[in-house]
Amino acid sequence: MKEQLAALRETALAELQGMNDPKQLEDFRVRYMGKKGSVTALLRGMGALSAEERPVMGQMVNQLRQELEEAVAAKSQAIQEALQKEKLAAETLDVTMPGKKEAKGGLHPLNVVLEDIIDIFQSMGFDIVDGPEVETDYYNFQALNVPEDHPARDMQDTFYMADGLLLRTQTSAAQARTMEERKPPIRILCPGRVYRADEVDATHSPVFHQIEGLVIDKGITMCDLKGVLEQFAQEIYGEETKVRFRPSFFPFTEPSVEVDVTCSECGGKGCRVCKGAGWIEILGAGMVHPNVLRAGGIDPEVYTGFAFGIGLDRLTTTRYKISDIRLLFENDVRFLEQFD
Ligand code: PHE
Repeated sequence: MKEQLAALRETALAELQGMNDPKQLEDFRVRYMGKKGSVTALLRGMGALSAEERPVMGQMVNQLRQELEEAVAAKSQAIQEALQKEKLAAETLDVTMPGKKEAKGGLHPLNVVLEDIIDIFQSMGFDIVDGPEVETDYYNFQALNVPEDHPARDMQDTFYMADGLLLRTQTSAAQARTMEERKPPIRILCPGRVYRADEVDATHSPVFHQIEGLVIDKGITMCDLKGVLEQFAQEIYGEETKVRFRPSFFPFTEPSVEVDVTCSECGGKGCRVCKGAGWIEILGAGMVHPNVLRAGGIDPEVYTGFAFGIGLDRLTTTRYKISDIRLLFENDVRFLEQFD
């Protein structure tokens, strides 16, 4: 039986030697030391031995059992360590590899400037409203004191569509719409795209952007218009900016003005940006014509108001010294990437 024991020990240890898989190891443990395992069987067979042999053999078998258990434990640890090492090796990061740059989106320069403008007017209590780009002839012209066949229509080359529809030529189309929806006091800003059948060149585009402002209340005067626009110009261009109001004509305002600011590039001396003038025209404005108030259902005997239309594209090209308006519409990523 001693020999049997020695042989068992021999094979068991040899078997253990080459093992590298936890499943195999568990299988080994069951085969030798489980309920039906060979070492367990030896202990069970002990009853057949004589009273002198029994304790001696018992001790030997127990020793073998212990030895094997320790060997299994050691092997188990070795296997775990090896697996861990393998895993770490597989997951190794080379921190010296060059990184992949994530493409980052940014705001279009028009939107950067628009957001600044919206902030300024919102802080003065203006609401932002939206209007349709496909507009009726009524809101784009008739409600703005431009009847059909009126020569003032020639000021704006219009894209007409079927059924009295057109692409709005001005955000002023938001004026009568707003007056129908709200009652005074009204203080709104309506930014958006407008369309005119212009030839494309460095300063003209058939699509461009305006921001309409409309204020109506009791006792609104030209002074309020000047104050609001001066405040706006100084916030957007800097405190030293001067504002100039030139008499002008729009069918929907009376009196009407065009508003220039001192060129932010040269401070008014004259340079390439302002084409030597020292001034840059940024908007048209005026006191809302009584006919327009009436069209919007507002009594011109009770209320007065002013309106203005800011040209967003010009503001953007002068701020960023963009020499060609087409760049704003081509959406070349190499151009847009410069603004974030
Ligand atoms: N709608 C005018 C334009 O497009 C600008 C403007 C708006 C003028 C509001 C006066 C009042 O030229």
